[in-house]
Amino acid sequence: MNYYVMTLFPDMISQGVGTSITGRAMEKGIISLHTVNIRDFAGNRYGKVDDYPYGGGAGMVMQAEPVYGAYEAVSAMAGKRPRLVYLTPQGRVFNQKMAQEMAQESDLAFLCGHYEGIDERVLEAIVTDFVSIGDYVLTGGELPAMVMIDAIARMVPGVLSNEQSGVSESFSDGLLEYPQYSRPENWRGRQVPSVLLSGHHGNVEKWRREQSILRTAKYRPDLLKNAELTEKEKNWLRMQTQ
Ligand code: ADE
Repeated sequence: MNYYVMTLFPDMISQGVGTSITGRAMEKGIISLHTVNIRDFAGNRYGKVDDYPYGGGAGMVMQAEPVYGAYEAVSAMAGKRPRLVYLTPQGRVFNQKMAQEMAQESDLAFLCGHYEGIDERVLEAIVTDFVSIGDYVLTGGELPAMVMIDAIARMVPGVLSNEQSGVSESFSDGLLEYPQYSRPENWRGRQVPSVLLSGHHGNVEKWRREQSILRTAKYRPDLLKNAELTEKEKNWLRMQTQ
């Protein structure tokens, strides 16, 4: 999968994505990252890409033409006009299902804004997806782009060493993940749940499933309505919470 990121801070993106699992995926050639500095398309020798907003108001607005030029450069690299995500708190809130769906793309571009926003006309012209990573406001789109790149990359086959680990975890079945334990068996007086030491695979699986359901009910009850629970599990949960 090829990622393209249009930004005023390309180093921030390449440092972030070049680290850890996504960095290894880049080395293996499973994903690639191309950053484009919007400033390179300023059209003036100062590299100025922002101006005052028409109608007045605080802050500066990123101008249309440099952003358009950056997308033309991305399109030339990709050999097509790739799907383009604009990171904005006004977008659809990102989730695991969107990560899964976007991981099917061969090319995916991101536009990171700064200042008070980007001239609406270029957004209308080129953006296919307006996406937010949550209901809070950040100083720019770089961190949200990195969040999306990370979540999407781990859904791309071969990025995670054990492909199972992309499937049996929080959100994949609409439930939070069960708790994990490692050595020692007793840590400062806290014991590992005995079922995990029993060697009985069936009981371990049953316990983990129950823990997932309990955790979801406790911390994210909003997720339960879309989770895939059997009638038996729903009854069991009712018994636990009575
Ligand atoms: N830019 C600023 N805040 C953002 C957010 N929450 N999500 C996506 N892009 C943003």
